[in-house]
Amino acid sequence: MTNKKILITGGAGFIGSHVVRLFIEKYPSYQIYNLDMLTYAGNLANNSDLNDKPNYHFIKGDINDSDFIDGIFNDFGFTDVIHLAAESHVDRSITDPLAFIKTNIIGTVNLLNASRKLWKTEPNHLFYHVSTDEVYGSLHNENEFFTETTSYDPQSPYSASKAASDHFVRAFHNTYKIPCVISNCSNNYGPNQFPEKLIPLFINNILTKKPLPVYGKGENVRDWLYVKDHAIAIDVIFHNGKLGETYNIGGFNEWHNIELIHLLCKVMDKKLNRKEGESAQLISYVTDRAGHDLRYAIDAQKVMNELGWKPSLQFEEGLEITVDWYLANAEWMQNITSGEYQKYYDEMYANRA
Ligand code: NAD
Ligand code: TYD
Repeated sequence: MTNKKILITGGAGFIGSHVVRLFIEKYPSYQIYNLDMLTYAGNLANNSDLNDKPNYHFIKGDINDSDFIDGIFNDFGFTDVIHLAAESHVDRSITDPLAFIKTNIIGTVNLLNASRKLWKTEPNHLFYHVSTDEVYGSLHNENEFFTETTSYDPQSPYSASKAASDHFVRAFHNTYKIPCVISNCSNNYGPNQFPEKLIPLFINNILTKKPLPVYGKGENVRDWLYVKDHAIAIDVIFHNGKLGETYNIGGFNEWHNIELIHLLCKVMDKKLNRKEGESAQLISYVTDRAGHDLRYAIDAQKVMNELGWKPSLQFEEGLEITVDWYLANAEWMQNITSGEYQKYYDEMYANRA
């Protein structure tokens, strides 16, 4: 179907903004509706270059409001949904789990219900649910990887809420035959990421010469993927994924936090003309995150073998591009970190020292 009307939720956030841009530019015949409530994590500056595109439409609204959601499905007649809107930060989920239950579970079910009512049993629709590898829990054995058949074992309020939302998507597929697909991706990095997450937070602290708060011993392992590679995977799965299936997406790129942080410090020293080793002196070991998952590692062979996707960038290259972006977009960072952010930062990190 070329005249698709795709609802992308969370399109003013980090990953969503890259997915919206890719779809707008690659598929001029699709109408793209970006629904975002503009929480602290949503930022229209992430999409400001798209405002004049004839196939781009922004809708401000809350996925937790079922009447509003039903209303826009009726008004616009969406043919497909790519659902990214979520509360996405583990540390915030430890402080306020209920906010995650509301948006990540109830918000997802509101969208599923609206899709079910509008599409009934018509074919040629798709509900694409964007999820995380964190639903699988924490790995402790070096030879283990998360595959699509790994049992769910979420360990944080964030991952528990995402796991529940995945279960609801599958339940709606099974019960109401909603055409759906789910992908579970590893940690993303790149332009436009809110500086509560490791890489942009550390870039900002290095820039401003503030301590770099490493949780615990920095021994936790994450598998990092450049955000535009995630957006490309979503495009590939949206168009060619099999209905009812799950696809794991990852970079085959595992880093101990402390090794990643040393690499980031080295890149930043070079870019800022600082003496090598200067930024690493800011490293400060702080109280660990409660229930901190030790290791995430994705086996992405299914999406690679069946759909031909693969990561395009080496991590060193992606990290350098990312640092360049943050340095070139100092105003973007200043606008975010000048207001409420400082309060968040002080509260989140006050008791960690
Ligand atoms: P983000 O926090 O940067 O953006 C979330 C967006 O959702 C924001 O624009 C926010 O305004 C919007 N939003 C939040 N609550 C809303 C509501 N009630 N109604 C409407 N909009 C609302 O998140 P992100 O990092 O871009 O993650 C996007 C999706 O990808 C999430 O579902 C997340 O679970 C998943 N994911 C993220 C990562 C990662 O590394 N960041 C990895 C795998 C999967
Ligand atoms: P984060 O970017 O929050 O992603 P996630 O917890 O979803 O993987 O954190 C990545 C890793 O970095 C994780 O092991 C926690 C750690 N971390 C720190 O050591 N210090 C920090 O200030 C933050 C935000 C994260």
